[in-house]
Amino acid sequence: MRVRTTRPSHPHRSIVVACALTALAAASFAGAEPIKTKVTLSDFARPASVPVPADNPSTPEKIALGTQLFADTRLSRDGSKACISCHDPNLGFTDGASRGKGVAGVPLKRNTPTLWNLAWGESFFWDGRAATLEEQARGPIEHPLEMDMPLAKAAEVLKADPKSVESFKAVFGSDGVSEANILKALAAYERTLVSPRTRFDRWVEGDETALTPYEKKGYALFAGRAGCAKCHSGWRFTDEAFHDIGLPDASDKGRGPIAGLAHMTTAFKTPTLRELVWTGPYLHDGSMATIEGVNDHYFGGIENLRSTLSKDLESFVPVFTEERKQLSAFLKTLSSETPPQPVTLPTTVKAPAPVAFVDAKNVSQRGSKFSPAAIRIRKGEMLTILNDDDRAHSAVVADPRMTFSSGVQEPGQSVALSFKDPGTYVVACAIHPGMKLAVEVTD
Ligand code: HEC
Ligand code: HEC
Repeated sequence: MRVRTTRPSHPHRSIVVACALTALAAASFAGAEPIKTKVTLSDFARPASVPVPADNPSTPEKIALGTQLFADTRLSRDGSKACISCHDPNLGFTDGASRGKGVAGVPLKRNTPTLWNLAWGESFFWDGRAATLEEQARGPIEHPLEMDMPLAKAAEVLKADPKSVESFKAVFGSDGVSEANILKALAAYERTLVSPRTRFDRWVEGDETALTPYEKKGYALFAGRAGCAKCHSGWRFTDEAFHDIGLPDASDKGRGPIAGLAHMTTAFKTPTLRELVWTGPYLHDGSMATIEGVNDHYFGGIENLRSTLSKDLESFVPVFTEERKQLSAFLKTLSSETPPQPVTLPTTVKAPAPVAFVDAKNVSQRGSKFSPAAIRIRKGEMLTILNDDDRAHSAVVADPRMTFSSGVQEPGQSVALSFKDPGTYVVACAIHPGMKLAVEVTD
């Protein structure tokens, strides 16, 4: 395996980048879309259905079982905690504390995040260490400070209860109570937690009176000069990516150790901004009590000497006090005015995208997508991955046959790698977990 990184700031190597760009534009990237730089209101439009995985379709019975398990204290060591103890529906599915407490009675390391709209999530926990909601749910059950119950033991407890055995049978057939089925039912329930429409949605749908002119000014800043929508994008107001926003306390290493990228140290997953009014305190460490406090951080509080600071923050221009108030006023239009209740949407089963491998040696990262998404290459041949996007990416292979990490690839930088052994590999971006490149290596 050989590695080459081209940095445009390096005079000699910049030629390599320029050549690569020209070649790519002419050949394999002829169809690449231009980078979309302007945010439009329709980018925030609500979806019509909830995505559910093919291996855990939702049924009313499964959701009902998951709802019960979510509140079932038998899943904790001493019967004192359930998911609902920390993700309280009356507190925006949080615990309302800066840092909550589990069975151990000591404050947890991180703030309890809301569970709104996680059906669309691409990774879970502040550092993204779980890939699915099913995988995530084992975490709090077994965590010594949270519920401290080996999942196998929790399954034994439920198996000893004829009522639980019956309800699991009704949902999962002969499979009955099992570790996997506990997690499936919990995840199915969590996928129903879709936040309701707010005034902002009415505005997106065309009702000009839904927002005041003052709030619309806040939106203009959010989507424009203040640069918030670079990361808080899409209808859930998150890019599902990890960023260091320069908080003063850097003791929690965040995404760094998970991604194996030093540049991701102190980076955390961009949180949703929906129903924010009901989900405080804010940030991964619960250090900010108010929305205004978070906004003030962005305009003057950023620890900007840290090398891990997100590149997406650098274009900030000072926003005056009145404008900060406009921003806060806008953010509040993303929250319900009375305590929000989940709304029901139809479900769509997420079909795995059919993979057609194409012969290619150059791959683009434009629009936070590897393109082509599935390539065939011969062993030993160089694969070049170019960041022709306007944001930072990376290329990581974590495979028993080969591990590789590009480090952070800033816009304009490319990385080259080759594979020694034939087989199928996945190249992922550690910053944007939704980005995946399938590679078939032939002899
Ligand atoms: C003692 C409090 C506590 C309990 C009990 C608890 N959680 Fe959490 N939950 C947290 C904290 C704190 C985090 C963030 C941890 C981290 O990021 O490292 C979290 C994170 C999550 C996330 C990730 C959200 C996201 O945006 O990525 C999900 C999903 C979740 N919990 C579901 C559950 C489920 C299901 C249960 C019950 C099986 C549960 N939690 C029990 C405190 C708790
Ligand atoms: C570089 C990407 C990025 C940009 C740009 C950005 N944010 Fe954030 N935002 C994040 C991340 C990441 C967090 C969580 C950070 C943490 O806890 O360590 C966050 C947290 C927040 C929170 C707290 C939410 C919660 O539930 O804890 C609010 C509110 C917020 N941002 C608003 C804004 C506003 C307003 C702007 C524009 C002025 C903005 N953000 C710009 C990435 C970004």
